[in-house]
This record gives sequence, structure tokens and C-alpha cells, in this order.
Amino acid sequence: MDPIRNPFSPGAGSPPPELVGRDPALEQARVLLGRIISKRPEKSILLTGLRGVGKTVLLNQIEILARQSNYKTIFIEAHENKPLGPLIVPYLRTLLFDLNRIAGMSEKVKRGLAVLRSFVSAFTVTVGDVSFGLGIEPEKGSADSGDLEIDLPNLFVAIGEAAEDRQIAVAILIDEIQYFGQKELGALIMAMHKVQQRQLPLLLLGAGLPILPGLAGEAKSYAERLFSFPDIGALSEEDAAIALNEPAQAVGVTFDSAALKEIFHLTKGYPYFLQEWGYQAWNLANASPITLKTIQEATATVIPRLDQNFFRVRFDRLTPGEKNFLRAMAELGPSPHRMGDIADILQNKPTSLSPVRARLIKKGMIYSPAYGDLAFTVPLFDEFMIRAIPEFRSCEKISQN
Ligand SMILES: Nc1ncnc2c1ncn2[C@@H]1O[C@H](COP(=O)(O)OP(=O)(O)OP(=O)(O)O)[C@@H](O)[C@H]1O
Ligand SMILES: [Mg+2]
Repeated sequence: MDPIRNPFSPGAGSPPPELVGRDPALEQARVLLGRIISKRPEKSILLTGLRGVGKTVLLNQIEILARQSNYKTIFIEAHENKPLGPLIVPYLRTLLFDLNRIAGMSEKVKRGLAVLRSFVSAFTVTVGDVSFGLGIEPEKGSADSGDLEIDLPNLFVAIGEAAEDRQIAVAILIDEIQYFGQKELGALIMAMHKVQQRQLPLLLLGAGLPILPGLAGEAKSYAERLFSFPDIGALSEEDAAIALNEPAQAVGVTFDSAALKEIFHLTKGYPYFLQEWGYQAWNLANASPITLKTIQEATATVIPRLDQNFFRVRFDRLTPGEKNFLRAMAELGPSPHRMGDIADILQNKPTSLSPVRARLIKKGMIYSPAYGDLAFTVPLFDEFMIRAIPEFRSCEKISQN
């Protein structure tokens, strides 16, 4: 059928034609936005879920909600090895300049800029030349100690006070938040703690992999009292059918029930895979309804495409030792698995495998859903590992690189 009319949207952060099954998370965000703006305390939200479940899409949707509720928003994506300070400063600077443009003098906004300027001076070397214009001198002694856990809370309070003075609320949205180091995550948590104690109209909304609740708890033990971690997961069979059928029906096409069943069986309801199968099936189908036979043909296209793109980009970042570890996990079937079982199959001791395990967690490939368990962060990665390395030699000792 006409590819131009294809409603499906596989891709990182591409808005799906139909955002299915996320009403509870959206409702939670709506309540949070409403409560903070009316100075009532509420836990901030950190969405957590595996790769490709729709966290970015949902965070974007929450940003739209925030704007509709009279929030100024900034949206940041954290990166591996990119420090929080230099990443966030340009956005905060734009935000404060925006607040400054609102008619009438505001000493609080001017102070916000002065505090931001001193915050920058603590790491000027890395941020380069951030210009603040005439009349904005750093407020010496505020947010310039060089210790992020002291400076960030001071900075957030100054920004919260500036926003309050302007009768505006601020939402800071951070995607891939698990990439921040422990110190940075700790500083963010402390900053939000201080903001909440002062009941300032500033809130944090984040998204990240399921290692996030653990990381936040390690960084600050009181994190669970400040944040809620809604679990964004695969769609139920019913919701998966809606995600496929509704957009197709909007352009006069349906899937027959055997086709829907097969897609669910293959994708396990993971949103990114639903979009891929929907997209390819649409292009291959000659007419409505899209049948089981078309899905089977589409599968022959989708799997190699996923292998070459979605899975391969992650696989290529792994060392031989890391690949071997993941291949052993795949050998045990869909995760989670006990560390001891993985060590057994690799004929190795759990303790000597801990460096590999730690690196894989840091790279965001695996996480620990419960103490001693390990699971893939990428859905269906076990099936991919077996396709990528069909022959697993369990007797091969894992290398440490
Ligand atoms: N609720 C949903 N229903 C149907 N499709 C969805 C839904 N949410 C997301 N998608 C689709 O899933 C794909 C992945 O979405 P997104 O990039 O937001 O996931 P993610 O969780 O941020 O992934 P990653 O961890 O890799 O960043 C996109 O193609 C999007 O259109
Ligand atoms: Mg994302």
C-alpha cells in the first residue's frame, strides 16, 4: 500500500500515531503539574523502562502538558560522559533571559542570572565562554564552591525564586537521566529536595533505564520519598492491537485478528517493535485487511533491519568479553538470571566476572531488577544475541576486556 500514507513511525522519540496505554502516567504528570503550580508538595516523576518502550515520547508529551499549564520548560538529554553542569547551563541561561524579558524589573530574576554566572565560574574551563551581557556580575559565594552538591541546590533555589517572582512555574525535563554519575544524580536530588522544602514552582521530570531507581537510592537514600518511578513497560495484547489498528483504520485499513496475534507474539507488545512491524507490513500489503501472510513476509524484512540497526549499534559498542557475557545470558533464555547461573555457564566465578558485569551496567546494557538478578535493558536482546553468535562455546573462558 501507499508508503506515503503509512501511519506507523518507528524511530527514537518519533511520536506514535496513537499513544496507547500511557493514561496512568499522563494523569500522574497532570496531577504533579497542577499541584506544584498551586504550591502543594508532590513527588517528582522519573519514568523508567527498557529501551524502545516510549519514554522519550512520553516525556515529550508531558512537556506539552506542562506548557499548556503555564510552565516554562527546558528539555535536556543526558549523555554518557557529559557532565551535568555544562549541559544544563545554556538552557538555564535561556530560561532566565526569557523570565527577564517579561515586562517590569525583577530583582529575583537578576539574582538568578548572577547566581548562574557564579555557578558557571566554577567550571569555566569546560563550558567555554558563556556570555551574560552587561550588568550581570557573578554573585560571589553563591553556587561557586565547585562542589555540585552545594552549588546546584543554590542555583535551583535562585531559579525557583525568580520563577515565583514572575508567577511562572518551571519544569526541567531530563531524558536518559541514568547517564549522570552518582555525584551529579545526588546533586540533582539534593537540589530538588531544597526546592521542595521551599515550595518553589520548579519541578524535575525525568526518564531513564530501570537502573535509575537503584542509582538514585544509592546517591541519596531519601530519593524514594522525593521521586516516584512509574514503570513504562510493554503494551498489553489489547493495547498493542489498538496501537496497530487505530492508526490504520484512520486511513481506511485494518489488520485481521490472526495478523494482530502474530505481531503481538513476535513483539511481546514492545512499542518500538510494534511500529516496525506495522510499518513494514503496511508497505508490503496489497490491500486491506493486512493478513497473517503479510506479517510473515514482513518479519523476514523486519528482523534483519532490527539486527542491522536497533540491536547492532549496541552490539558494536561491546568488547569480546562483554559479548560473551551477554551471550551466556541469552543461552539461559529470556532474562532475568541469577549471576551465579551466568557464572556457571561461563565456567567462571561470579567475583571474577564482576568487572564485566559492572561495565555492562554502566553501558546501559543490563540492569538488576532484583538483588542478584540480571536482565537485558533491550527487549528481545537475548534472541538477537543468539542470531549474532549462533555457536556458544560455554567452555571458553571469558576474557576481562
Ligand atoms: N504508547 C505507545 N504506543 C505505540 N507506539 C509507541 C508508544 N510509545 C512509543 N511508541 C513508539 O515506540 C518507539 C520508541 O519510542 P521512544 O523513542 O520514546 O522510546 P524510549 O523508551 O525513549 O527508547 P530509548 O530507551 O531507546 O530511548 C517510537 O517509534 C514510538 O513511536
Ligand atoms: Mg528515549
